[in-house]
Amino acid sequence: MKNIAIFASGTGTNFDKIYENIKFGFLKANISLFVTDKPNAKSLKKALDRNIPTFKFNASDYSSKLAYEQEIINQITNHDIDYIVLAGYMRILSENFVKTYKNKIINIHPSLLPSFKGKDAIKRTFESGVKYGGITIHYVDEGVDTGKIIEQGIIKIEQSDTLETYEQKVHELEYELYSKTLKNILEDN
Ligand code: GRF
Repeated sequence: MKNIAIFASGTGTNFDKIYENIKFGFLKANISLFVTDKPNAKSLKKALDRNIPTFKFNASDYSSKLAYEQEIINQITNHDIDYIVLAGYMRILSENFVKTYKNKIINIHPSLLPSFKGKDAIKRTFESGVKYGGITIHYVDEGVDTGKIIEQGIIKIEQSDTLETYEQKVHELEYELYSKTLKNILEDN
């Protein structure tokens, strides 16, 4: 069974779903490490409550990105991690880090890439007037949301949708598709 590390900065609702899917046997993997750059994040509390080993850091306590990422690399090595699963991790990983774990870092982004890369993707999708939005699961490379696409899910934007209802649809699809896609990756390799 593969060991995964979850990286998150926020609420961690995607983390919740992955955790539940592992607990109920849908996804066969161990969450062996949780990493956050936000020591007050709700997701960190969840990881602690779930007895998952955690590593938290304040970027401002370190002299450089390389310095805190080296600590993360040490944790990944110590916990024998096979895959890194980003679930709302809001920091850009360095080229060094990404190259160290080529094809081992997976991210979920709330738009149909290559459209709407970067922040506020849900709002920018909705406000653009496109008829279809969606989500993308991809490997992480040196760019921002530019890595090889693994899976996508499409959402039709209805006339009656508001930003809130569209956002809800995005998250529901994320919860379903992230675990399914991770299952394909983690149980095949
Ligand atoms: C998700 O919308 C994900 O696509 C994006 O960050 C958000 C994380 O939300 N990368 P949560 O912390 O899982 O609730």
